[in-house]
Amino acid sequence: MIVTPLSPVMGAEILGVDVAHVLGDSDFETVRRALLDHNVIAIRDQHLTPAQHVAFSQRFGDLMVHVKAEYLLPGQPEVLVLSNKKHPDGRAMGFEDAGRYWHSDMSYVDEPPLGSLLYAVEIPPEGGDTLFCNMYRAYETLPNSTKKRLVGLRAAHSYVASFEGKTSSGYARDTLTDEQKAQLREVIHPVVRTHPETGRPALYVNPGFTLRIEDLPQDEAVSLLDELIQHMTQPAFQYRHVWKPHDLVFWDNRCTMHHATTYDPSFARHMHRTTVRGDRPFAA
Ligand code: SIN
Repeated sequence: MIVTPLSPVMGAEILGVDVAHVLGDSDFETVRRALLDHNVIAIRDQHLTPAQHVAFSQRFGDLMVHVKAEYLLPGQPEVLVLSNKKHPDGRAMGFEDAGRYWHSDMSYVDEPPLGSLLYAVEIPPEGGDTLFCNMYRAYETLPNSTKKRLVGLRAAHSYVASFEGKTSSGYARDTLTDEQKAQLREVIHPVVRTHPETGRPALYVNPGFTLRIEDLPQDEAVSLLDELIQHMTQPAFQYRHVWKPHDLVFWDNRCTMHHATTYDPSFARHMHRTTVRGDRPFAA
């Protein structure tokens, strides 16, 4: 197996492994270590059935089932389909505009995913890249006065608010049903979280799902969130993943945010995503 960094800020590609088959402990450890060291890993040239994708993902922990039940793969509910393709009857095959704003997956649940594994089944000839941002770097490079200000601060995250365009991404999209809303509630997480495996601090607010900062007047919270978002989304902390066919990209949601980009809709983009349950975020 060969692990090669993809940019100075984060990301590595892995060649020479076939995750359709059960990995031996040493190969598994190489992949796990690469994720912790590089935060985003692109495992190239994989040929995976949904069951194999699920089985590989489960080596890292329990899988989560997304609330948007209409976009789960029939018979394999751990797989969320992100796609602009349509069924013959015109129904969408997948979540077309998922994640077109900066976010850390499902930060709106108590135990958000440690990571997500997105498999490129079909990609457009250009566009549809995924941007990633390194939230360790974002934290480390804050002025000391801001770091002090963040100690003990906690933020509210909400998927419902995000659907309504109330979070700072301002991105409102298709609706959640009443049944889906009933499965969701606001959750509170530290603004700076300690990565449970590396012990490193990372910023843990995102424009997609972070609604407010607890115990701060809303105008102060909005201005602090704006300041943090400006800082963390600067190009110096970003890696742009340009997809290759059959990439399996695994990102660590505990120390990154990501942002899907647009593409020419006359081309198909069809992806399968699994998400691995993580710990409740904490600040050491
Ligand atoms: C996501 O999981 O947020 C979507 C990422 C992508 O489609 O590039």
